[in-house]
Amino acid sequence: MQFFLDGSDIEKIKKFSDLGLIDGVTTNPSIILKSGKNMIEVISELASIVSGSISAEVSALDSEKMVEEGIKLSQIAENVTVKLPITWDGLEACNSLSQKGISVNMTLCFSASQALLAAKSGAEYVSPFIGRLDDLNLDGADLISDIKLIYSNYNFSTKVLAASIRTINHVKQCALLGADVATIPIDIFEKLVKHPLTDSGLSQFTADWEKTGQSIL
Ligand code: G3P
Repeated sequence: MQFFLDGSDIEKIKKFSDLGLIDGVTTNPSIILKSGKNMIEVISELASIVSGSISAEVSALDSEKMVEEGIKLSQIAENVTVKLPITWDGLEACNSLSQKGISVNMTLCFSASQALLAAKSGAEYVSPFIGRLDDLNLDGADLISDIKLIYSNYNFSTKVLAASIRTINHVKQCALLGADVATIPIDIFEKLVKHPLTDSGLSQFTADWEKTGQSIL
């Protein structure tokens, strides 16, 4: 499963990217607002530190303007993926942009039928928002497994990019269900390595090693 980071904290994204753990980054208008920076600058900076897909979302709601914005965003860097909402206008823009060879991530996906339309429109990625479904007591994991089954039934190449991830358990569920990508908020990503038994076990090993009086170097 590929790990994308969902955010715009350049320093932390560079840190984890330099570890070879990050395959891409996703942003959206709320993330850009939170960054307090100019969107073009953010996307350009992200594209320079992470070689994988960088999702940049259009602001327009009509397909013609979406295509115009999408072309402009794609010109920021060769690894920019254009994010479009799953609406009829978004699907029309997806069709047009993907035919121009521009990578598209269809976002705000909450149903299998939306994901089917995204694949048939040529999207490289579809982003089912699992956390927002769970917030409504629906099951985000079920959507991931439904989409994976439908895409395998018809051999669609569109990648399932699990989004709206809220917990470490969401990451595990996505991996168990075969999501192609999980885009993980940075604070959740930082927690992936943590386990209290690892911490206590390491403390014990360290204390016992010190008692040996030995040194390796
Ligand atoms: O990439 C989509 C993600 O940022 C949405 O997350 O927590 O606003 O549902 P959330």
